[in-house]
Formats: sequence, C-alpha cells, structure tokens
Amino acid sequence: VANGLAQTPPMGWNSWNKFACKVDDATIRATADAISANGMKAAGYRYVVVDDCWHGARDANGLITEDKTRFPSGLKALADYVHSKGLKFGIYSDAGTKTCGGRPGSQGHEYQDALQYARWGVDYLKYDWCSTGVRNAEEAYALMSDALRASGREILFSMCEWGNSKPWLWASKIGNMWRTTGDITDKWAGHHGYSWGVTSIADMNEPLWPYAAPGHWNDPDMLEVGNGGLTDTEYRAHFSLWAMMAAPLIAGNDVATMTAATRAILLNTDVIAVDQDPLGAQGHRVWKDGDREVWSKPMSDGGRTILLFNRGEAPATIGADWAMLDLPRSVQMRARDLWARKDMGKRKGRYEAKVAPHGVVMVRLSH
Ligand code: DGJ
Repeated sequence: VANGLAQTPPMGWNSWNKFACKVDDATIRATADAISANGMKAAGYRYVVVDDCWHGARDANGLITEDKTRFPSGLKALADYVHSKGLKFGIYSDAGTKTCGGRPGSQGHEYQDALQYARWGVDYLKYDWCSTGVRNAEEAYALMSDALRASGREILFSMCEWGNSKPWLWASKIGNMWRTTGDITDKWAGHHGYSWGVTSIADMNEPLWPYAAPGHWNDPDMLEVGNGGLTDTEYRAHFSLWAMMAAPLIAGNDVATMTAATRAILLNTDVIAVDQDPLGAQGHRVWKDGDREVWSKPMSDGGRTILLFNRGEAPATIGADWAMLDLPRSVQMRARDLWARKDMGKRKGRYEAKVAPHGVVMVRLSH
C-alpha cells in the first residue's frame, strides 16, 4: 500500500500468543519498558501491539471506548507511554460485527474507528476477520484502508484474514502485510484444532514467496519463540524460517521475563539483518530430500543467505550446491554461520554442514 510504511518487514511485539484476552495496561507498559531496555528496541523491534480484548462498548455516538477495568488510564495515555519509550503503538480490530473475542467489531464504523485510533496516537492496526458473515474481504479491507488514510495519521495496516480469499493476489495495494494462514500455535508441526505448528505454517507460507516486496509482506503469523512449547533448537529453526521468508518479526512471548536463551534468539542481529534486508526478497525452499532441505534468500549485496534445515529426528549432513542457489559454480563466496556467529572462510561450489535434529544451520554467503 502506498503509505510508505513497512519498507522492510515490520518488527515488534503483540500480546496475543502469550496473554490472549488477559491483556491489560500494566502488561503493555511492562512490555514497552522491557523492549526499550533489553536490546530489542536497538535490534529493531518497534511496534507494541495490543491484540483482541482491549475494547469496551461503543458510546452513545458510536465511538469505540476502551475496557476501563483492563485499561483504567485509557488507550491515549497508554499510547503516550509507549511513545515516550521511543516505540510505536498498535491495536486490533475486526472487519465484522464482533471481534473473535466477542468485543465490538468495526463493521459500519470504519471511518469513526480510524479517527478514534488517530486521536489516540495509534501507529499500527491489525484487522481480524471474525463475524464477517458474507462480507467480501477485498472490499472490507479496502474500506478500512481508505479510512486509515483519511484519518490523517500514518497507520500501518496488518490484515488478518487467514489467507481464506488469497489476499496475496489483491492486498498489496490495501495493506502492509496479510496473514497467509490460520493461527500459529507453540508446537513443532501439524494441525491442532484451529491452529498449526510452526513448520506447518512455514510450509503454507513458503510457496507465496513471489508476492512479498517492500511495503507489503506475507505474514505467517507472530512468533512463538520463548513460549515454552519447543526446544531452543526448534525455536532457532522457527526464527530462522521467519527471517528467511522476510516475515514480520512480531515477538509473542513475555519479553519482561524471558530466559537468556530466548533473548539470544530474538536478538540475533545477524539473523534479523537477513529478515530486514532492503532487497525485500522472500526466500524459499530450493532443494528437498526427505527430511533434509535447503532454503535460499537473495540478498541486496548480490549474495545469498542459505538455510540448511533438518526436519528429522537424527543429525543429518546437508549441502547447498551453488547451482541450487543460482550462483555460478566457480564463484568463491565468503561464508558466515549466523547462529555460531562465526566467519567460516571462503567456499566454492558448495556449503555443507551437519545439522541437529529439528535444527538449522544458517549461513550468509557474500561475494
Ligand atoms: C484470530 C487471529 O488470527 C489471532 O492472531 C488473534 O488476533 C485472535 N483472532 C484474537 O481473537
């Protein structure tokens, strides 16, 4: 969308994966404090987003209000607080009559809501798809996109329609990012009720690589890193896959109490730089043999970032041939292992490594 925002994939934090409907003012303030002090802000995490369940009722004029028990000082004061930390403030609404959490949706109140958000100082809107009945998604999202633009404030537009009507085909002029799948859950793989494990989400998002570009991104949902369901090896794979896919990096854990291991994953600036590369190409799978895969992401310096990914239960040797990466076989590339954070010298023709079960080796290759 031509609002000039999201030239690289948006980075930030969202309340849903960890706190769901149990979100409140204190949690958001503590999160903003943590992000500004623990290195996340310096690493690029910008948006602090309150997901579902902040809403109170509409007032007599139809203006949306906040839930005064959970947000006693109001969203304007909360936005001011987040801004005072040098961060940006996001909220959530829904294109239907009700949000997924049963709060008032924006249907029929789009311009009113956009104005209210602008008054509060909102910088980011995530717009969900519950209770939409027979609404046409493109029409519904375009309407809110126009309303946000008319509000007079720059507001990043995150579309959350779960990929139902293939938003990658029509949403690039409407929003800055669009969900490509149903909800993520803190599991390695498979389908669990309404949600999917991280590798299953990655598999659904991967083929959509041609549709990502600066200003508008495929969104395979928020991160589960640090929520406790996976091992640190698996979380490194999760974070790496998201970076390879130029996905929005929206942390979804309790960043005020995270472990050193979680912090080291979310704050790996080499991996973040791959996600944030200005070329904005979404990487994808270039080779697969059973549980062993090679992914490649073209970089703005003419190089590649490769991901050697082992889905299996035993260690495996995985190699990327330059031919898979669209590089001439004779070209020498400098290699840096982004999780070992170590320069690996020059390589020609192939990069090979032993990869832990459910693990990755992520390597940046530069001329
Ligand atoms: C469905 C979305 O996909 C989730 O990310 C979250 O926003 C919930 N709704 C909130 O109810």
